[in-house]
Amino acid sequence: MWIPPPGSLLLLTLTSTLVQPVSSQCPIYTGYAYHKHLPLSTGKWQLASMRPIPPCRTFKSREVEETIERLRNVIVDPDLFRLFENTWPSTLDTTVAWTGVANKSVIVELDPVMNKTVTWDASHKFQLTPEDVKKLEDEEEEELSFVITGDIEAMWLRDSANQLQAYTSVLRASKEKGSLASLFRGAINLQARYILGDPFCNAFQAPIESKIPRKSSANSDTISPSYDYMAVFSCQWELDSVASFLQLSADYARMTGDVAFFGKHAWAAAVRKVLDITQSMTVGSYDAAGTWMHTPYTYCAPYGGTPINDCNGSPHRAIGLVRSFHRPSDDSCIYQYLIPSNMMYAVALNASAPIMAAVQPHASNLTAWMTAMSSSITTAIAAHAVVRDPTHGPIFAYEIDGYGSAILMDDPNVPSLLSAPYLNFTSPSNPVYANTRRKILSRDNPYFTWGPVIEGVGSMHTLPGRAWPMANIMAILTSSDDVEIARHLRWLVQSTDGYGLMHESVHSQTEGVWSRQWFSWANGLFGQAILDLERRKPWILRMGFQ
Ligand SMILES: *[C@@H]1O[C@H](CO)[C@@H](O)[C@H](O)[C@H]1NC(C)=O
Ligand SMILES: *[C@@H]1O[C@H](CO)[C@@H](O)[C@H](O)[C@H]1NC(C)=O
Ligand SMILES: *[C@@H]1O[C@H](CO)[C@@H](O)[C@H](O)[C@H]1NC(C)=O
Ligand SMILES: *[C@@H]1O[C@H](CO)[C@@H](O)[C@H](O)[C@H]1NC(C)=O
Ligand SMILES: *[C@@H]1O[C@H](CO)[C@@H](O)[C@H](O)[C@H]1NC(C)=O
Repeated sequence: MWIPPPGSLLLLTLTSTLVQPVSSQCPIYTGYAYHKHLPLSTGKWQLASMRPIPPCRTFKSREVEETIERLRNVIVDPDLFRLFENTWPSTLDTTVAWTGVANKSVIVELDPVMNKTVTWDASHKFQLTPEDVKKLEDEEEEELSFVITGDIEAMWLRDSANQLQAYTSVLRASKEKGSLASLFRGAINLQARYILGDPFCNAFQAPIESKIPRKSSANSDTISPSYDYMAVFSCQWELDSVASFLQLSADYARMTGDVAFFGKHAWAAAVRKVLDITQSMTVGSYDAAGTWMHTPYTYCAPYGGTPINDCNGSPHRAIGLVRSFHRPSDDSCIYQYLIPSNMMYAVALNASAPIMAAVQPHASNLTAWMTAMSSSITTAIAAHAVVRDPTHGPIFAYEIDGYGSAILMDDPNVPSLLSAPYLNFTSPSNPVYANTRRKILSRDNPYFTWGPVIEGVGSMHTLPGRAWPMANIMAILTSSDDVEIARHLRWLVQSTDGYGLMHESVHSQTEGVWSRQWFSWANGLFGQAILDLERRKPWILRMGFQ
């Protein structure tokens, strides 16, 4: 998650009033979530009720409501149940800013320079061939869902995919408008559009069809290739953004069996774009003759950026990994071979390749390309990203440069090293993963933070000494140890400052010091972890956390 630094102009110009309240009577959730609402839960922690009242919820799902009601009789501790009830529906309750369908009309105009007519899509962004126009005419309605991250009113590729992933377990095939399946399809279609338009960017403004006002996101960063300031909210190249698009696609296909959907609109074209740009970002810094090779994406920022080597970052040797300029925290990478993002991308390529095999455009090699890239990344991780830690033995590095330099740490944002088994990259019993995990969750991790309030993994994205609940949740999702799971649950229950929502970070030493009151991704992930426990270890949900 990216938050502009204090005093930044962006914060002032962009986090205004993009979200239309469901009704003008409904409070904006940013403000609503600052206050604790009654009734409080009946346990020691007295957690507030933070769901908006039903008419003010942005999306309604019967499956989600039924699941919450079922869990009411499964979770015994009243505070733990309140935490689940507040958090899991957060994305649906508060962040579905708009749903609708794509405008399929076309704009035909005379190009005065070329003296010929050209055809554009309705947004006047993509030039269309006669075949494109024919396809548009034949196409079914294209659903769109604009899902914002929470307190920042833009759609992140990563966050929105993860926010929806919280509901994968209750996702069923449905053609109905208003179904979860429709919400997923709309997000996949909109992500495909975003990727085709500005493939290196990570967060986007509302689609033109929504009529939600957009504002220029131009700021003092120097980024190439240039992008559309009115469509994009921020353009940080993060490999996990495009991996999230593939992951969301694979989740939808697995749960609904609706593979045909992916042949209907721009999905295959967007995946092709993803393959093109990720391939281009495997470039090493020198060619055989010694010439400096520019990365196809460059980024210089006045703060926290990488203004070195002509905005290319430090030198990297080509080893088959994909360079990512930014982490899933949106902070700049120190070395651009960000291992968790490469792990996630390798899995997501594999997981979505069967969809491509079913819908692959004629005479293209996209399926083979996906699986080949997945396997070359996996091979490169094994060859280059396993390093020796003096205490813990062989572990996965967080970032490397292909020259032998490595950063040994973890960041709480997912994909993280901690999440490798959750991402299906490896199993928890893999000894390298087990060593890595032991280090990450100990004082040997430079970003580990501890104190009476909560113990866990912090991030350079927030102030030091603050644990991110997201990493505690991930520790639960990757553990089979009841004692460890209960310990993390206890920290989560006791550290919300009475709000009953997941914060971004929580001060380990001082109660009541935290960041972000409305962070839907972390909320959804907590709900996911509880549902995962219901399947794996239901007895833990009968424990007390008082
Ligand atoms: C533009 O093309 C048309 C035919 O396609 C021609 O009649 C016209 O003279 C051209 N105009 C210019 C300014 O070249
Ligand atoms: C669809 O796009 C066309 C061309 O940009 C525009 O004139 C029209 O108003 C749009 N329709 C809707 C419903 O937004
Ligand atoms: C991708 O699929 C291949 C073939 O099924 C498998 O061997 C490999 O482990 C998978 N890689 C990842 C990262 O999931
Ligand atoms: C697929 O084709 C593209 C060019 O169209 C090429 O760059 C890529 O290496 C090919 N991949 C495989 C696995 O054949
Ligand atoms: C990992 O694979 C399992 C089984 O196929 C699946 O249920 C789960 O959703 C996958 N996890 C992710 C993050 O893709």
